[in-house]
Amino acid sequence: MVAEELGEVWCIVVAAGSGRRFGGAKQHVDLAGRSVLERSVATAREVCDGVVVCVAGTDDAEALRAAVHADRVVEGGASRSRSVANGLAAVPERAQVVLVHDAARPLASPELFRQVVAAVRAGADAAVPAVPVVDTIRSLDGPKVDRDRLRAVQTPQGFRAEVLRSAHHSGRDATDDASLVEEAGGTVVLIEGERTNLKITEPVDLDVATALLRRSASSVRATDLEHFEGHGADTAEGGS
Ligand code: CTP
Ligand code: MG
Repeated sequence: MVAEELGEVWCIVVAAGSGRRFGGAKQHVDLAGRSVLERSVATAREVCDGVVVCVAGTDDAEALRAAVHADRVVEGGASRSRSVANGLAAVPERAQVVLVHDAARPLASPELFRQVVAAVRAGADAAVPAVPVVDTIRSLDGPKVDRDRLRAVQTPQGFRAEVLRSAHHSGRDATDDASLVEEAGGTVVLIEGERTNLKITEPVDLDVATALLRRSASSVRATDLEHFEGHGADTAEGGS
């Protein structure tokens, strides 16, 4: 199939976890003025035609949908895989590229989303952002693991919609969907992930994310200032 035939891109943002390691529903906590979930959805929206959010308990789905600017809100499942499957059922048939993104990764950039989409459009069944592992890893039942052969995978992960649908038909559980696709014989392409695309897992991760956002906000301000200074008196007179 030629790439141009790949139509709409939809993103499933999974936010139905209980945040056991964090000590509560981390997806709903405030991160520098907006909730973690709202930030994740906002970035997905920038790049995708539609966004489905999976949450635990959809009592007031409409209010949540409006609050986070999602197209659809559905009930998640007992495992992440089940949440993805429920989200997939709410993605329209016309979607031909489906991304799956952890609500808990609010700092993934729009550029990363675009690269994932581009890799699927270029022919991959699945595209997965990954970064080298920086820690020395030890297996509890064996010798040191060769770090150079390891990658830490991130989301958003992108899929040809039909491939993800058939992978989920198997009903198997997996922490990441790319593994399901791979087991079904699909091609998985790794793309370069982002160091800053951390997953909020423990409370300290929220502190790190806050610091990263502050840093990027101040670098934006610095750029504005350079721009302003570069234009000298004209800009100053022009006001605004
Ligand atoms: N998730 C989900 N449904 C589940 C489990 C997880 O939608 N049944 C989502 C989480 O909300 C999160 C993402 O999958 O956005 C990644 O999972 P993780 O970081 O493990 O979050 P939690 O499962 O909530 O955290 P913990 O494992 O510490 O309980
Ligand atoms: Mg979990």
